[in-house]
Amino acid sequence: MSSENKYKSFSKTPFYVLSYQLLSPYSPTPEHVAYEMLKLAKAKPGELVVDLGCGDGNILIVAAKYFKCRCIGVEINPHLAEIAIKRAKKEGVADLITIIVGDFFEVNVKDADIIALYLLPETLRLLKYKLIREIKPNARIVLHDYSFDDIIPSKVIDLKSHSSLHTHKIFLYYAKDLKSSHKSSPT
Ligand SMILES: C[S@@+](CC[C@H](N)C(=O)[O-])C[C@H]1O[C@@H](n2cnc3c(N)ncnc32)[C@H](O)[C@@H]1O
Repeated sequence: MSSENKYKSFSKTPFYVLSYQLLSPYSPTPEHVAYEMLKLAKAKPGELVVDLGCGDGNILIVAAKYFKCRCIGVEINPHLAEIAIKRAKKEGVADLITIIVGDFFEVNVKDADIIALYLLPETLRLLKYKLIREIKPNARIVLHDYSFDDIIPSKVIDLKSHSSLHTHKIFLYYAKDLKSSHKSSPT
């Protein structure tokens, strides 16, 4: 992208979107990593997968296409949300995927069987209390590269990148891991 085009797309982005993206900027989870995340979480057909900050929908498309899950993605950036909707249609899984354009702090996750997260540690620190309050007892939380820094995950997997020297990390938490770590959580 030329610097002129970069400036044009930047200047079109609403300020509130930019401020959220400082907390967790867009970076997609590669398809093979998304696949391993859902495999680790033992995703089953018909289960509800929620991706908070779904970007252009990579994790949701893998969940719908290969695991036949119902999916909800929440994305603050309307441009990325639009791409996610278009991709779901192109992949033939639009009937399984709902995209909510908005702030994931405003969306209740009580019905989710699996919550997928690829967010920076600062955002995870804020989100943790919401999850502890809302998630159901058998929910699983699966994270790419960053984990809840003060809670020990039930499982961790290292996965080689297909395109760089980076090693992806996948973390799995069960609802009980989160709930038992914080007997009382701030309101
Ligand atoms: C690292 S990307 C992950 C994208 C996708 N989950 C994936 O793994 O491919 C994080 C996404 O979270 C979105 N985001 C950040 N804060 C948000 C918020 N408060 N509500 C909704 N989306 C948010 C960003 O716009 C960005 O697209």
